[in-house]
Amino acid sequence: MDANSKITAFIENIRKYFLNFSRKVFNLLPETNDIKILDLGCGSGSLTLELVNMTRNNNGAVIGIDINQTQLEILNKKIKSLAYEKYLSTKLTSLYEYNVSGNPFDIIWTEGVIHLLDLKKALKKCNELLKPGGILIQHDTLEWMKKHSSFYQIYGFKQINCFLLPENAWWTEYYRPLEEFINKLKIETEDPNSLKIDQRYLDEIIMVKKNPRKFDTGFYLMKKL
Ligand SMILES: C[S@@+](CC[C@H](N)C(=O)[O-])C[C@H]1O[C@@H](n2cnc3c(N)ncnc32)[C@H](O)[C@@H]1O
Repeated sequence: MDANSKITAFIENIRKYFLNFSRKVFNLLPETNDIKILDLGCGSGSLTLELVNMTRNNNGAVIGIDINQTQLEILNKKIKSLAYEKYLSTKLTSLYEYNVSGNPFDIIWTEGVIHLLDLKKALKKCNELLKPGGILIQHDTLEWMKKHSSFYQIYGFKQINCFLLPENAWWTEYYRPLEEFINKLKIETEDPNSLKIDQRYLDEIIMVKKNPRKFDTGFYLMKKL
């Protein structure tokens, strides 16, 4: 396994800590049968599979969409190995181009994605995709949400709840362990440059380490009006 694959596997493992909070947020919702959830920007699916685990006994259905084919291929392999085809499907598409008839979703769940999008276009599309009274559940930084919260009302959403993660959680539970893991990989290798570690990981660690509080996050529950 090359260094970046080892890092990816390590990240999947530390991502699990944050799934505890997704579960807590899910438990804030009323228990419903036949719930239909869109996981927007599902990536390799740690959260997506958790959404299935929380809904499959009540006949739930989850669809994961993403623009990253490699990540979706990883998720598709997991779906196959768990025999989850009945509960979960994926589609390689951007949110903007995702067309389905009617407003099929009770919930659009999205973690770490909305800040990457054109917010106005994304909210308009989410509004189209949700059933009347459906809920957009978004996990993003408090700072970003503070700056953009006024847009939600304009595009037909009302905040009905929010759930904040512990302060510094992304540093103590994700980026610091990741930094330690990468340092360990470097120590164990004669020529650390030969590892060719993806610069993206290193840049993110430096950014969060400088000001961990800037990366405090929360879940925001936005109801379609
Ligand atoms: C930070 S990752 C989050 C992955 C996953 N939600 C999680 O929490 O582990 C952001 C994901 O959003 C996806 N993404 C970015 N722009 C998108 C778009 N326009 N439509 C759908 N997915 C998008 C990226 O490919 C990436 O997989």
